[in-house]
Amino acid sequence: CGIVGYLGGRQAAPILLEGLQKLEYRGYDSAGIAVIRGNTIETLKKSGKLAQLRAQMNGYMPESTIGIGHTRWATHGRPNDLNAHPHIDCQGRFAVIHNGIIENYLTLREWLISQGHVFRSETDTEVLPHLIEEFYMGDMVETIQRVIRKVDGSYAMVALALDEPNRLVAARHDSPLVVGLGEGENFLASDIPALLKHTRQTYILEDGEIAVLTRNDVEVCDRSGQRVDKKVFHVKWEAAQAEKGGYDHFMLKEIHEQPRALKDTLSGRIAPDGSRVVLNEINIPQEQLQQINKVVITACGTAFHAGLVGKYVIETLARIPVEADIASELRYRNPLIDKNTLVIVISQSGETADTLAALREARRKGARVIAVTNVVDSSVARDADDVLYTWAGPEIAVASTKAYITQLLSMYLLGLYLAQSRGTLEDKEITQIITDLRKLPDKVASILENGTNIKEFVQKHCNCEHAFFIGRGLDYAVAMEGSLKLKEISYIHAEAYAAGELKHGTLALIVKDVPVVALVTQQALYDKTVSNIKEVKAREATVLAVASRGLEEVAKVADEVLYIPRTHQMLTTILAVVPMQLLAYYMAVSRKCDVDQPRNLAKSVTVE
Ligand code: G6P
Repeated sequence: CGIVGYLGGRQAAPILLEGLQKLEYRGYDSAGIAVIRGNTIETLKKSGKLAQLRAQMNGYMPESTIGIGHTRWATHGRPNDLNAHPHIDCQGRFAVIHNGIIENYLTLREWLISQGHVFRSETDTEVLPHLIEEFYMGDMVETIQRVIRKVDGSYAMVALALDEPNRLVAARHDSPLVVGLGEGENFLASDIPALLKHTRQTYILEDGEIAVLTRNDVEVCDRSGQRVDKKVFHVKWEAAQAEKGGYDHFMLKEIHEQPRALKDTLSGRIAPDGSRVVLNEINIPQEQLQQINKVVITACGTAFHAGLVGKYVIETLARIPVEADIASELRYRNPLIDKNTLVIVISQSGETADTLAALREARRKGARVIAVTNVVDSSVARDADDVLYTWAGPEIAVASTKAYITQLLSMYLLGLYLAQSRGTLEDKEITQIITDLRKLPDKVASILENGTNIKEFVQKHCNCEHAFFIGRGLDYAVAMEGSLKLKEISYIHAEAYAAGELKHGTLALIVKDVPVVALVTQQALYDKTVSNIKEVKAREATVLAVASRGLEEVAKVADEVLYIPRTHQMLTTILAVVPMQLLAYYMAVSRKCDVDQPRNLAKSVTVE
C-alpha cells in the first residue's frame, strides 16, 4: 500500500492525490484521503484505481491544509469502498491510514466491540482509530504510544485528530515510512517517489519511532518518548529509481523484500506458544479432512515449482499421496479427482487462465479447493472454497521472486496444518519445524546482507549458451526454479535435472566449461549428489554448488560453493532459492537484458 501525509500552507487534497499517483504501483485496489475541514474530518474514498476516486470527486477538492491519503493493496478485507483507507472512529474525530498487518486485530476488535465501538469495515486497520478513540485524553502522541503498546504486527501508520488540527502523528514498525522536510510545510510518505516533487530532504524512520509533524517542525521520538536525533537523508535518486527503492530493478528490490514478505505471510498463522500452525481462513470440516485420500496441486510457471515442493512436504508431513501437475495439463486429462480429493491451486496473480480453468474443473468433479494466491479477491480466490493468502505485496517484475518464496512458505504451513489434523506428526516435531520456520526471514536477510561471491561466477560465465541445474529431492524442485529464472530473464538455455537422472541422457551435453549449478542441501542425499558432481567434473564442467552450512566437504569437488545457513532439512528450499534468484539476476544484468520485462513474457497470462 502507499501512504502520504501533508500539512503546510498549501491545499492538502491536490498534493495528496498527486502523491498517491506516484505510489499507485504499490497498490491499486482502492484509494482515499481524509482532511480536516472546519470542525469535521472529511473522508473521501473509493474502491478501484485512483482515477475512480478522482472521478467520484469530479473536480471537488475539500478546503484544508492538513490531510492524509492512502492507496491500498488489500490484505484483510476485500477491495471495496468500506475497506478503503482512511478509517475513522465512531464519532469521526480521528482518521488513520496504515500499511502492514495488525496480527492481533481480532482480539482487539472483540474487546473494542465489548466497549461499545461499532466497526464499519472488515480490515485489521480499523482497530487503530477505535483504539485511539478509546485512549485519547487530549494528546495524540501519548495516545499513539499507548496504541502501539497494544498492537502486534507490522505497521506504518499516520493519524489525524480533529482536536489537533496542526499536527500529524505517525509511527512505524516493520513497514517503511519517510518524513519529507519542507519550508513551512512537511510531508509523510511510505515511499520516496511521493515526496520528490516537493523535497529531497528526508528523515527515514526506524522501527519503534514516532514522528510528530507540525508545519514548521518535525520531532521524532522512540517508543518511550525519548527524543531521537535524526540525520537528514538527502535523496539523490531520480524518480524512476526511487520507485525501485533505490535498486536498479524491481526484481532486485523484490528479492530484498523477501524477509518482510515471509514475516508477513507467517504473521498470525502460528499459535503464540509456537506449538501449532493456525489457519483460521481454512474451514474444512474435520470429518471431510479425515476423508481426504489424495491431494492434487496445480499451477503454472514458478507457482508450479512451489507446488513441487508442496508435493514433497505434504507427503512427508501429512502422509497423503500428492500429485503436482501443470494446470494446462491437468485440465485436459480427465484427472482422477472426486469429493475426497483436496486440490491446492497456487497463483500469484490469481488470474492465470489455465490455473483458473483447472480449479473450475476440480470443483466440477466435487473436490474441495484451497487457493494460495497473492491477490485478495482475485478470480482464483473467489472461485475456491478456501483461500490462504500470501502476503508478498504487489510484485511488479515479471519474474516471480517474493511471491514464490511466500508460496513455498504456504506449502509448509499447509503441510503442518494437514499433519496436525491427521495426527501424523509428534508434537515435538511440529514445534521443531515451526521454530526453524520462524527463523527463516532472518536467515534470508543474512544471505542478502552478506552478499555472495556470485558476481565473480557471473563474470566468468555470462557469455555461456547453456547451463544445467542439478539436485535431488527438494533440491531438484529448487533446481527447476533456478533454471526457469535464468531462462526467463537472461535468455540462457538452462535445464534442470534430477541429479541421479543426468547419466541417462543429459550427461551427453556436459562438455568443457559448461556451468553446472549443483544444489546440495540435503544431508541424507549428500553422498549421492556429490557423486553426480564428480560425473560432471570428469567432463570438465564448471560447478557452482549451493550448499548448506555443515556440508563443507563439497568444496573439494565443486569449483565454487555458496553456503546457506543451516536449517531443518525440509526447509532449505526457502534459503537455497535466494542464490538462484541472484544468479539469474546478475547474469541478466551483465547480458544487458531487460530484467523486469523479459521478451515475450507477461506477468499475468489470462489466455489459454
Ligand atoms: C506467467 C509469469 C510467471 C508466473 C506464471 C503463473 O507465465 O510470467 O512468472 O509464474 O504466469 O502466474 P501466477 O500469477 O498464476 O502465479
